Amino acid sequence: NLPEKVTLIEVGPRDGLQNESNQVPTEAKISFIKSLKKAGIQEMELTSFVSPKWVPQMKDASEIIENCLDETRNYVLAPNRKGVDRVMETECKNIALFVGVSETFNKKNINKTTKESLEELIPIIKELKENGFFVRTCISTAFYCPYEGKVDPKNVLDLCREFVESGVDELSVADTIGMANPKDSYNLFSLLKKELPSVLLTAHFHDTRGMALANIFACLQAGVTRFDSSAGGLGGCPFAPGATGNVATEDVVYMLHQMGIQTGINLDQLLEAVDGIKEYVSRPIESKYYRVSQSR
Ligand code: HMG
Ligand code: MG
Repeated sequence: NLPEKVTLIEVGPRDGLQNESNQVPTEAKISFIKSLKKAGIQEMELTSFVSPKWVPQMKDASEIIENCLDETRNYVLAPNRKGVDRVMETECKNIALFVGVSETFNKKNINKTTKESLEELIPIIKELKENGFFVRTCISTAFYCPYEGKVDPKNVLDLCREFVESGVDELSVADTIGMANPKDSYNLFSLLKKELPSVLLTAHFHDTRGMALANIFACLQAGVTRFDSSAGGLGGCPFAPGATGNVATEDVVYMLHQMGIQTGINLDQLLEAVDGIKEYVSRPIESKYYRVSQSR
């Protein structure tokens, strides 16, 4: 019983570029975003409000937002009060908060313990909801932590529950360093679906060990219909050693379309978006579908 339709949340402009060592010109990011939208992407993480000292690539967040908001759902990431305030100064009404299940990872990523992040974010969620925001929350290290190893699904559920009870609209649950396998993915997402049926549940896989498509298929079987992906398979968190690219949007679209599952995304136009950003990134485009298209 696979779904007829799946929603892909494009994270290329944010997760895809944040770890890129070359500073990508703002204009190139804007064209990338616009060509992704042209390909039919309806939900996208545009950028993040984080410290420019920690993540210099995202320092042009305000300009990206000014140029790219439209009627589709555009998210801006924020890890703390300052980031949320900055989102509130824009016209953007969709925010993505982020926090790690693993304490060590959260400390390295946000310079706070998970508990400190929660204490800061919970009151903010209420405020965001009162101000008409759609609140997405990205839950990192839901399977493995680069510092602490295997993460207990119970800790993931407990953290997710806190956010759901605080009123978030969506949880994007992440395999930050690409170590999950399909069995674990099926089990974790089945558990979250069962225990937290009211929230929109999204799966976020990095393809470090080539498991991402298999994990997505396992999640489809667990009833998940929303997936984060990154055009060209770009991506990785700068504070998660070993993290490589997200699952490539074109590979996911190809797999889903071949199975008769709609995404609303045009593959040829998606490849044009990848072509447009390719010259600005230092790593080669490794997605299978992109490579095949190049050898034709
Ligand atoms: P800190 O040094 O503890 O912060 O960093 P602070 O409060 O002491 O402030 C230090 C400076 O940063 C100050 O500026 C603040 O104003 C500024 P200064 O006075 O030195 O000029 N600052 C900010 N500037 C812009 N936006 C903000 C902000 N907050 C403070 N929001 C901080 C704490 C959270 C800022 C830092 O750790 C940080 O920027 N971390 C971001 C890490 C990040 O972006 N990681 C990648 C995204 S998460 C991810 O990729 C995982 C995900 O894909 C899912 C998955 O795969 O797992 C979502
Ligand atoms: Mg990520």
